[in-house]
Amino acid sequence: VAGPAVAQAPNGYPVRPITMIVPFAAGGPTDVVARIVGDHMSKTLGQQIIVENVVGAGGTTGATRAKRAANDGYTIVMGHMGTHAAAVPLYPNLAYDPAADFEPVGLAAGTPILILAKKDYPAKDLSAFTAHVKQNAGTLNMAHAGVGSVSYTTCLLLNSILDVKPTAVPYNGTGPAMNALVGGQVDYMCDQIVNVVSQVQGGSIKAYAIATANRNPALPDVPTTKEAGLPEYSVSAWNAVFAPKGTPQPIVDKLTAALDKALDDETTRKRLLDLGSDLPEGDRRGQKALAALVKSEVERWSKVIKTAGPGN
Ligand code: MLT
Repeated sequence: VAGPAVAQAPNGYPVRPITMIVPFAAGGPTDVVARIVGDHMSKTLGQQIIVENVVGAGGTTGATRAKRAANDGYTIVMGHMGTHAAAVPLYPNLAYDPAADFEPVGLAAGTPILILAKKDYPAKDLSAFTAHVKQNAGTLNMAHAGVGSVSYTTCLLLNSILDVKPTAVPYNGTGPAMNALVGGQVDYMCDQIVNVVSQVQGGSIKAYAIATANRNPALPDVPTTKEAGLPEYSVSAWNAVFAPKGTPQPIVDKLTAALDKALDDETTRKRLLDLGSDLPEGDRRGQKALAALVKSEVERWSKVIKTAGPGN
């Protein structure tokens, strides 16, 4: 007897919990986006999505773990602009190819980048900050989440524009890096908006500018880099869900549909928007769009790294 025309996910997938690898520390931006999106996806899928933080090497340890996981839909990964693009030019021996070794599920969120400093950093605005950094780079500490992470690559770009080489201090994610910034143990950082809104609002850190074309409704008082006099610093990051290569298409489709549903859900949207995320709509959603994004981002960051670093 011929089966239904619509492909069914094998064996009633999912019949047990799904692990979503987060390649950075708990409490940081990737973790936060993964938990918000995963919460709603698990409702749709009828199975829990368990976040597992697999940290190290700027997120490439966790992404490698995901590449090597069984391709049965029970392990997926919340990757990002670092793990699935910028890591390529930064790690000549990277154990995975972001395009060839993963099935793209979909973009989860765009995450604008801000230039941040500890609250008593002696500069009142971006031009005073850039002047101070240029004069004092030799004594300054810049926090980041490991070579290849978003904070690393986006500050590499900033430092190359300013032509400075501060001491780069690595953490397992910008969750812990943010604690160090709040505590004043490091001087400045470039971070994704979803990690910074409450600290900026509460005054525990300074935000000099957001590197997008327009201000963000979650932090309306923070000027754009263009408004603040550094238009050449224009950069944004993103988070996206991937499955190991060879995960059966009906399973990937089910995950994509669950991600879409999460991004259409009012409560999920509000949680992401309150943190300043840029929600993907229409043709930015889904598998094809993510495959194209990975390709263009690998190209973009390969060029940037060639010009800006990694020695900078
Ligand atoms: C994190 O979740 O800690 C970040 O996405 C780190 C980064 O890439 O800067």
